[in-house]
Amino acid sequence: MKKIIISKSTLELLPYPLKGSVDAIITDDVAGFLCGIQERDYEMQLLVLVFVNFDEYNVVKRSVLRNNALLWNAVILDSDFTYQMLVDEDISFIVDCRTSSIMEEELQFIIQRGFSFLEQQVSVINNNEFLEKLVDMKRDQEDLINIGKSLSAEKDPDKLLRTILLLSKKITGADAGSIYLIEENVKGEKQLRFKYSHTFSKDIPIEEFVMPLNKKSIAGYVALTGEVLNVEDMYRLPENAPFSFNKSIDIQHNYRSKTMLAVPMRNHIDEIIGVIQLLNSKEDMNSERGITGNEAFEIKLQSPDDFETKVVPFDQRYEALMEAVASQAAIALENNRMIRQIETQFEEFVKASVHAIESRDKATSGHSFRVAELCKHMAYAVNSATEGIFKDMYFSETEIKELEYAALLHDFGKVYIDLAVFMKGKKLYPKDFENLIIKINYLYRFVELQALLGGNPEVKNAIASEGIAASNGEANMEKLESIRRIKELVYKLNEPTVTDMDPETALKEMIEEINDVLCKDIEGNIIEIIDDITKRNLSIRRGSLNEEERKEIESHVVHTYNFVSKIPWPPEFKNIPEIALKHHEKLDGSGYPSGLKDDEIPLQARMMAIADIYDALTASDRPYKKALSKEMALKILADEAKGRKIDPDLYEIFVRYKIYDAVDRDFYRIA
Ligand SMILES: [Fe+2]
Ligand SMILES: [Fe+2]
Repeated sequence: MKKIIISKSTLELLPYPLKGSVDAIITDDVAGFLCGIQERDYEMQLLVLVFVNFDEYNVVKRSVLRNNALLWNAVILDSDFTYQMLVDEDISFIVDCRTSSIMEEELQFIIQRGFSFLEQQVSVINNNEFLEKLVDMKRDQEDLINIGKSLSAEKDPDKLLRTILLLSKKITGADAGSIYLIEENVKGEKQLRFKYSHTFSKDIPIEEFVMPLNKKSIAGYVALTGEVLNVEDMYRLPENAPFSFNKSIDIQHNYRSKTMLAVPMRNHIDEIIGVIQLLNSKEDMNSERGITGNEAFEIKLQSPDDFETKVVPFDQRYEALMEAVASQAAIALENNRMIRQIETQFEEFVKASVHAIESRDKATSGHSFRVAELCKHMAYAVNSATEGIFKDMYFSETEIKELEYAALLHDFGKVYIDLAVFMKGKKLYPKDFENLIIKINYLYRFVELQALLGGNPEVKNAIASEGIAASNGEANMEKLESIRRIKELVYKLNEPTVTDMDPETALKEMIEEINDVLCKDIEGNIIEIIDDITKRNLSIRRGSLNEEERKEIESHVVHTYNFVSKIPWPPEFKNIPEIALKHHEKLDGSGYPSGLKDDEIPLQARMMAIADIYDALTASDRPYKKALSKEMALKILADEAKGRKIDPDLYEIFVRYKIYDAVDRDFYRIA
């Protein structure tokens, strides 16, 4: 009798509710339940497959006997599980280990495999003369677990293929093997790509190539039919076989392809995505030495005789085992492909976002890309530091990617800010300045008019009622002189450069002089030459921005944070919002938005601060702003480091490794 017992703790990783085909007992005490079964005297043999987390597995293993009446195997479903936990463990009870949700089809596959192992164990137990097969099966199960372990750890797709093939060869004792993957060509037609191959005994380099997906080749046949092919001699294929074998490579390399096992690689939705083809099994369990796959794998086939005497057909048990291995491999490849697809999507998304911000203001275009490049180079420099504070510091490739994305997006929040504020090069916006000059010119003409009126009593009388008083000519000449001075002063005050002149005092005097003249429009309304906003702007002591505008620009970091933190980053990029948020913080607490100090600012944000300032200083991103030379920019950064605004140790790295030379300024500009 077969039973499936599922621990409640594993339900979140299972396709729940379980479909009708899975008849399972769900309990929160699997070990207790099994002990209960054990005590009852079942006449039938019980085959039990349990789904448990790792801790529960250990409890079951300790408390439940395994005998002829009760045979059990376990599937570990545990999001905290790592293969490290299996070091020194007896894994012969484990059918599979999964850390993430499994789909209905995978579940069916695992159940089928679990019971098939149990049934094989029953037949072996029932037949003592095949007892050693139990050892094989135990080893097969261990191999499968180990394959899962190796494949889940591998991120590089090429290494993954190499690992798949190496493990397949080791398990079966094969001398050679190839992996074919199904792909679509530009016309949307499926084809088979010969992706990777390796021969232990000979160095046979074969380049990647594509072939049509049809039954004429062995790989094509397996890919299309899903059949496992176990061939005893490739040179003696059955006459009615739809496929044939091309001996040319054998002849060219003095090799002899004899026995062959080809299995389809099915992914989690039972789709065939490729084929693993193994050649020349060297395993010989019947010989006195009983050579297993692992040992046989390293036997060299050199002389023609070796191919006749050392090569054996692939053992039948490898057909099912290799199918399971190929499925694990397919799922690992699919996972890998999906991970890369997600990575590419993030990359594209980040770049598209940056283009959005950079194309908004052509003058600063390329800034984000350059800051990202500088940051990356700083991280590599920190990695290579063999002395000093960073000698033990190391950024992984993923951490460098995280830093790069944070840098690319660090100023994204600027899209929320009025572009005019960024473009503001002088204390008054061009329109406001123009307006002010018009008003001063008007005032000038007004006073001139007064002077003229002073000499014409008729006109004087005619418009006296409108409040334009004529005055004597001498006084007006003085006034006109003063207005001319005021106009000059307005030009000076509008400049953002810091001068000895206190703008507020100068402005006050100027206003007093102007206020003497009541300048009126046609309707007789008094024209205010310098309104409050203009006064406030012309009184700015440093730079061109008033307090509100400065705050608005500073708010870009919070906008960046709000935007970036809404992106569902994978866990390895979780620090991006924080790094981007803190790129304007200063070590002495004078930065924004939070005035953080020293270690409160992440190292990556401190790196970004240096890259950001350096790029801003050396960029000629505004018509009115001159780009500073590298030397000048480094001098300013040195002062900032001395004043503990930026991190002195990172500045030292920036200079020592000439990070500033790493970026080609014009390369990153948007045309
Ligand atoms: Fe910024
Ligand atoms: Fe920036």
